[in-house]
Amino acid sequence: MIFAEYLVLSSLVLGVRLYLYQTQRIQFVEVSDTAKIHCSSKENLEGGSSMFWYLRREGETPTCIKRCLDDQNVGKFACKHETHSSTLEISNIQKTESGIYYCAFEYSSYLIFGNGTTLIVGDSYTNSSWVMFLVPFPRGTQVTGTANLACVIHGVSSPVHVSWSVSGELQEQGLTRSLRARDGSLTLINHISVPMDTWTSGKNFTCEVKFNSSGSSVKKSTRYPAAHPSGCVAQMLRYAVAISLVVLMVSLSLAWSHCCSTPAKC
Ligand SMILES: *[C@@H]1O[C@H](CO)[C@@H](O)[C@H](O)[C@H]1NC(C)=O
Ligand SMILES: *[C@@H]1O[C@H](CO)[C@@H](O)[C@H](O)[C@H]1NC(C)=O
Ligand SMILES: *[C@@H]1O[C@H](CO)[C@@H](O)[C@H](O)[C@H]1NC(C)=O
Ligand SMILES: *[C@@H]1O[C@H](CO)[C@@H](O)[C@H](O)[C@H]1NC(C)=O
Repeated sequence: MIFAEYLVLSSLVLGVRLYLYQTQRIQFVEVSDTAKIHCSSKENLEGGSSMFWYLRREGETPTCIKRCLDDQNVGKFACKHETHSSTLEISNIQKTESGIYYCAFEYSSYLIFGNGTTLIVGDSYTNSSWVMFLVPFPRGTQVTGTANLACVIHGVSSPVHVSWSVSGELQEQGLTRSLRARDGSLTLINHISVPMDTWTSGKNFTCEVKFNSSGSSVKKSTRYPAAHPSGCVAQMLRYAVAISLVVLMVSLSLAWSHCCSTPAKC
């Protein structure tokens, strides 16, 4: 009994020690090209037969798209292995295959995941795309709690890459919710939470959105007290309503992912 517990414990400890690095956070590829997504580890990946690849498309739960074990390396997906790395090659890639690709390694019946690489196929920018910053409704001199900031990316044809920085310092990635309009275009809401005093300290918050490989991006910056273009109360109210909706949607999505979205194995 104690021995069994020890085994479970040691495999947990060992499992936690194996990290998968996906150092490229974002990758652009043109439609019908071959995409190559890398994953590496300090440990020996044993020929890569325990590697899996998952794709999380916008608004969907992650699905397993490739198990490297039963690999004839024919067809769309191919696994290429070296001792400390594994590469997924996807040929003739299409726009619908944009999303976040995670490598996973099966280690004594646990799956260990990498942090994911966002793959953007082609150009997500359309002639109706715009980006808007949403900030908390100012409530006097409140200094406790958390501030929710969001970037709304409207009218894109496929996912984009959003990064956040505070006074030039890169932050953890935000959480994204997506809504699909009837014409097929996407509206994305990317949201971060920071301590209220970080927000009210007057630091410069920037949300940067990349739509394609052109090297240009759209940046929106703001700082407390947020400047409201017209100073119009109705406009501020609209922002306040929007931010509450964002928070509600993000908490719903968190509740959802906690209850139901354990990724299925291949
Ligand atoms: C994955 O992301 C987390 C949070 O951003 C970070 O702490 C961790 O070091 C990353 N892991 C790897 C293996 O890069
Ligand atoms: C926007 O693009 C769509 C197709 O991509 C086109 O049908 C439409 O005319 C364009 N609208 C404007 C205002 O350029
Ligand atoms: C905030 O930072 C961004 C980029 O780091 C810069 O472009 C912008 O001018 C800054 N805004 C303010 C108000 O300082
Ligand atoms: C790429 O994105 C930029 C905005 O970052 C946009 O202005 C441009 O039209 C997009 N498309 C191409 C082909 O550059």
